[in-house]
Amino acid sequence: NVLILDFGSQYTQLIARRVRELNIYCEIHPYHKIPENLDNFKAVILSGSPLSVRNEDAAHPDLTKIKGKKPLLAVCYGAQYLAHFMGGSVEPSSTREYGRAKLTTIHNHTDLFASITEGTQVWMSHSDTIAKLPENGVCLASTDDVKNAAYRIEGEQTYAIQFHPEVYHTTDGKQLLENFLVHIAGVAQEWTPAAFVDTTVQELKDKLGNDKVVLGLSGGVDSTVAAILLHKAIGKNLFCIFVNNGLLRKNEFDSVLDQYKHMGLNVKGVDASERFLKALELKTDPEEKRKAIGNAFIEVFDDEAHLVEDVHWLAQGTIYPDVIESVSVNGPSVTIKSHHNVGGLPDFMKLKVVEPLRMLFKDEVRRVGKEMGIDPELLGRHPFPGPGLAIRILGDITAEKVRILQEVDAIFIDGLRKWGLYDKVWQAGAILLPVNSVGVMGDERTYEKVVALRAVESTDGMTADWVNLPYEFLQETSNNIINRVKGVNRVVYDISSKPPATIEWE
Ligand code: XMP
Repeated sequence: NVLILDFGSQYTQLIARRVRELNIYCEIHPYHKIPENLDNFKAVILSGSPLSVRNEDAAHPDLTKIKGKKPLLAVCYGAQYLAHFMGGSVEPSSTREYGRAKLTTIHNHTDLFASITEGTQVWMSHSDTIAKLPENGVCLASTDDVKNAAYRIEGEQTYAIQFHPEVYHTTDGKQLLENFLVHIAGVAQEWTPAAFVDTTVQELKDKLGNDKVVLGLSGGVDSTVAAILLHKAIGKNLFCIFVNNGLLRKNEFDSVLDQYKHMGLNVKGVDASERFLKALELKTDPEEKRKAIGNAFIEVFDDEAHLVEDVHWLAQGTIYPDVIESVSVNGPSVTIKSHHNVGGLPDFMKLKVVEPLRMLFKDEVRRVGKEMGIDPELLGRHPFPGPGLAIRILGDITAEKVRILQEVDAIFIDGLRKWGLYDKVWQAGAILLPVNSVGVMGDERTYEKVVALRAVESTDGMTADWVNLPYEFLQETSNNIINRVKGVNRVVYDISSKPPATIEWE
């Protein structure tokens, strides 16, 4: 187990993901909450920060319990803070160093820099520089501009680097992390999907015993993987509820329900389409639509959960990025999630919560799913928003508009699969616009709906770019849509990136 102390860098989660890629388990904790008991941590990594150590608001934690007692790797701000903490000096640099640099000098190729050669590219992002190393500090590597790009403390397993090993552009970053964690700190590489499945299933068995658990399945990766883990642990005591809100993709409810049954899950499909449509009637504001859908879901789920007698637990597919307590750059703060509490909590929200994926990143959830034999097609599915097609139909929602959009969306997505483009796209879908346009079909004038197609590349949905789909594909898709979907006479392709646009239109 490795401890990552977060000083608020945008790259902290990336450090954790790189460590996990080495099959080593790690946890992120905010710098102002260093765990009391450090026995289980075999090594510690200090993250970067957007602030300067010379800034009063910056992180200045007491490292006495860590430094010299645990193998320590300090990154960027961490490296500067370590120098500052030990009596070295950190000064503003004459130029802010941002982007690629080369380690032109490496003094020692056996230790932190084993198997790394001079000239290797690293990623820098700092405006301060370590002017004087602390006592017993030894310079390990330099760039043309930064003398103390890496140093160690003599007689301790304490290392510091000015560059970011977690960023892809640091070519030997993973090697350096391996050198530190495996060869210097001696951490075992035992964190594998198979090991995770074994220990989690055992933990769930111990925790849940003969208790009953309810879980809402969405058709997405997280809830599915959570369900299969729980199913392995408690079998028929897991009661899954899959709600059709009528806003899913064409045929999705039936085909996914079938898949779930095939996997042996104890699942009940609940068709509540009418109820959701009624709740959405005449609503045009995106946030009002989201609220109406959220509330309808809570009501339906609560009714269904009541039908399971003696249930004690609610299972959720929460993953690690939703759990990590974030460090705000304006001082430590805790992100508080809003939740539904209008008129008291519904009964199912009073259940004890079990979250088997709460320590996993998204890519790890997929690997665990694969390990348990879940269909790769299900694991590779694009993300789909909870409010479904309701936020892709601009304006008010009717059954007819849902039908039109389902047809259009199915032609687009099937086309992506047929052309081998589906896996190259992070998310794709169609949007029904609230305008009619004039067209001509045969000798007839038409006045029908316009649809927009959207396909984006992204890693986490925070930023995204539109995908350069082949013109031939767009041509075929547009023809198919206009010829086959009654009520649509025009197709446009969205070429906006996020930011400044968003992925969804609402
Ligand atoms: P935006 O439109 O904000 O979307 O760029 C980023 C990602 O979030 C999804 N999204 C939602 N997911 N409930 C959800 O569960 C929502 O209300 C919602 N709004 C957007 C969107 O599909 C994209 O993957």
